[in-house]
Amino acid sequence: MLARSARSLRKTLTGVRAFASGVPDVMTAAVIRETGPASNMKIEKDYPTPKLTAGGVIVKNKYSGINFIDTYHRSGLYKRELPFIGGQEGGGYIAAASDEAIAQGVKVGDRVSYSSVFQTYAQYTAVPASKVITVPESIPLDVAVSCGVQGMTAHYLTHSAHAGLVKPGEWMLIHGTGSGTCQWAAQMAKLRGYKVIGTCSKSKEDIARATGVDELIVYDEAPGTSYEDYTSVDLVPRVMEITKGEGVKAVIDGIGLATYETSIDVLARRGIFVSFGNASGAVPAFPPLRFINKSGYLTRPKLNDYTVTREELMERANDIFGWISSGELQVAVDRCFPLEQCVEGHNYLEAGKSRGKVLYEISD
Ligand SMILES: NC(=O)c1ccc[n+]([C@@H]2O[C@H](COP(=O)([O-])OP(=O)(O)OC[C@H]3O[C@@H](n4cnc5c(N)ncnc54)[C@H](OP(=O)(O)O)[C@@H]3O)[C@@H](O)[C@H]2O)c1
Repeated sequence: MLARSARSLRKTLTGVRAFASGVPDVMTAAVIRETGPASNMKIEKDYPTPKLTAGGVIVKNKYSGINFIDTYHRSGLYKRELPFIGGQEGGGYIAAASDEAIAQGVKVGDRVSYSSVFQTYAQYTAVPASKVITVPESIPLDVAVSCGVQGMTAHYLTHSAHAGLVKPGEWMLIHGTGSGTCQWAAQMAKLRGYKVIGTCSKSKEDIARATGVDELIVYDEAPGTSYEDYTSVDLVPRVMEITKGEGVKAVIDGIGLATYETSIDVLARRGIFVSFGNASGAVPAFPPLRFINKSGYLTRPKLNDYTVTREELMERANDIFGWISSGELQVAVDRCFPLEQCVEGHNYLEAGKSRGKVLYEISD
């Protein structure tokens, strides 16, 4: 019995063996011990470093992306066990690798990015090897990290979530094309051959136009804010005018509360409402009868269900990195806050100011 335990312990240790040297026991991280406003997130300099486990790697992060979902975890809207380190995407260099990861082809020193992994606002993150993406030399690391959550989301929204209900040459409406996810979704939709109507607030018009959308609807900004006043344009007649009374075959909407009503009203017959987020607040419950006018469809997708296997993850990553390398996709890094300014980073995103990706840079 004892001999068997010793054998299995030896096996486990072999799987995680000494590539971990050089990884310190404690690290700097942005930690949430109590949910609430951004100011509840505090820098701690002696947080325990994650341990290398079988099948995983430890990444020494250079960048960590900031996403709206991080603010929901921090505020308590989405529940997490406390305390926790914020974030769920990052990139840097592999500092330690298990045998299984090495067998997969990664090694210490590789330049990598990853997403859908918690605890990334930190110097080190434990990442399953199946989530590790080697970054091609031609792509800067900050750009690669920017593609983790928002780029992958833009990909599945424009390629998969609409279930093929929109075809090349047909109209799609994409809200928020001057911000992060939908700035890339608009470009990808054009690469797919869809006709695209974008929306954005006035201060982001230049960015939204640069995506190549066919039509852009520009809202005024709500007084005292940097996000759009959705009453400043009557969206439904405008979309009907553009589409010659047909409406759009798909709407991609991450704004949520402020836009869901019009998103449903601008659908074409048998069009699909892809409601992927709630930057302005959660979409309330509504009856299925709401869709009877045009026999519309509704989906409420999330990234994890569209990067289920390693193959699916890599297909999307290869497309994105390929387009960036060929110059067909522009991924703009808007702001890069030092991790020490973790509070400012969240406040910036939540104020609706993003004009592209918002990152933390993590120093040694
Ligand atoms: N389901 C998924 O797989 C998935 C993946 C990524 C994100 N999301 C969700 O989608 C939503 C948007 O994320 P994102 O990555 O697109 O964010 P983003 O790039 O930062 O865009 C959000 C934009 O929404 C607009 N906005 C309108 N009202 C707002 C308000 N009250 N507060 C803040 N922003 C407001 C702003 O653009 P304007 O200035 O143009 O108004 C803002 O820049 C979030 O709820 C996020 O959690 C879901």
